[in-house]
Order: sequence, then structure tokens, then C-alpha cells
Amino acid sequence: MYTQLQLRGSARPPVNVATLGKMKADGEKIACLTCYDASFAVLLDEADVDLVLVGDSLGMVIQGHDTTVPVTMEHVIYHSRTVARGLYRPFLVADMPFMSYASKEQALQNAVRLMQEGGAKMVKLEGGAGQLEIVEFLAGHDIAVCAHLGLKPQSVHKIGGFRVQGREEQTAKQMLDDAKALESAGADIVLLECIPSALGKTIAGELDVPVIGIGAGPDVDGQILVLYDILDITTGRKPRFTRNFMEGAGSPLQAAKNYVRAVKERSYPAPEHCF
Ligand code: KIV
Repeated sequence: MYTQLQLRGSARPPVNVATLGKMKADGEKIACLTCYDASFAVLLDEADVDLVLVGDSLGMVIQGHDTTVPVTMEHVIYHSRTVARGLYRPFLVADMPFMSYASKEQALQNAVRLMQEGGAKMVKLEGGAGQLEIVEFLAGHDIAVCAHLGLKPQSVHKIGGFRVQGREEQTAKQMLDDAKALESAGADIVLLECIPSALGKTIAGELDVPVIGIGAGPDVDGQILVLYDILDITTGRKPRFTRNFMEGAGSPLQAAKNYVRAVKERSYPAPEHCF
């Protein structure tokens, strides 16, 4: 078993935090997608996706809720475990759902569950300055952390809707300060959702850790999209930053490959996907 894994690994070594850091340093864009089950996980591995996120977007695209708020730890663990079974090379990140990290002790306990029961290698949580202590605590226990800034869907009822963040000078500066503070606290990746491209560029330029964007413009270190959006499965109004990669693809596997190529070649995101 061990030898088999080593043989597979020598051809396509699994991605880890060091690989992602090197990709940023080398200027190679990081291609990421969300995923919720084993069959799609196998397909995304074959398409050479670098990072797979079991996002709490599963509450919307799998469970049919209007927001991610109803998603629980049990839901994320279940989906993460199924995804983990299908992945070899991509780096698996799992979302910490709403109110699963209200204190640092609770965050640690739940991050451990995502890793031990869900097979995740990194956990993602939404937050800025308010989460510094939690990120530091997790990092202090050698847990890899992705900090999600910009539009934070778990706060939708507090901010009053899904809208672009960081448009004003003061909120942009606050986001940059938060990103730097989160990096200092030990975050290994910063994810930026739905912000002006210029701000995405500034934050990616100021941080040493990889900055992944979703609606954050072309000048961040990598892109992530919701799998069901690129496969045109999502019904209703789609966010401006998504693109239907099924167009001209013929199969979900080809669509995922086309997405990876577009990210690597920098043809996605185009100006029409940016703010
Ligand atoms: O939950 C999710 O899928 C996410 C992505 C949109 C980045 O957080």
C-alpha cells in the first residue's frame, strides 16, 4: 500500500501548503473548485485541479437553502469524507460552518473533527480582525488555516445581502489590514470573495501566503468557483464572476479541464467577471 502511494506520488505528488506557496512564488496560478461528493472528486483530480474545497455552499447547491447559515458540522464532515475518498493529488480544504468557531476551544475541537473525520488537510473560516485569536490558536496547534475575507456569506443577515465588499477607501484599507493580521496570526491562505479587482491585486501583492479569489479579479494567486456554477447546474441568477465552462466542453470532465487551463493561462477571469 505504502509503496503504491509512493509510486503514484512520484508521478503526480499530492499538493500541500508548500506546493501552493511555491506556485505563488513561481507565478503559477492555483486552480481551485468546490466539490461535495466522491464521483466529482475523482473527476476534479483527473482534471488537475490543485485545491478542492468542501464549501458550506453545499447548503445552497446541495440542500436548496437560500443561505449557508443552516449548514452544520455533521453536513460538512459527511461531504468532506466522501470527497476525501475520491481525491489523490488536490489539496482538500473543508469549511467551518456558521457558529462552529465561536470560541477558540470550539474552533479547535471542530477543526480536529474536519481533519480526523472529514479527511481535510486545511480548514477555512470566515472572518477578519475578530477571528485573529482563533486563527492564532489553530495555527498554534499546527492546523492549516484558510481565512475568508470580503463577502462573508455566513454574515449575510448581518450585512443585508450578497454584495461586493471593500468598495470604499476605509473598508478596503480595513480588509488589507485584516489580511495582513491574519497572515501574521498564522493563516496559510487568504480567500477573497466579491471585492474590486484593484483591492484583490493589492492584497495578493502585500501577502506572502497565497491569495485565492472568487470575484476578486485576475491579479490574485489563484481562482476558486462553485463546481455547480461552472457546470451550469445552478439554476436562477448566477453571480457576475462565474462562467459556464460546459459551453463547448461536451462533458463535466472536459469542462473542469477547460477551467483549469483558463485559470493557468489567465484567460479566466475576464473583465466581465470582475468588479
Ligand atoms: O462555501 C463555499 O463554497 C465558499 C466558496 C464560494 C469560496 O466559500
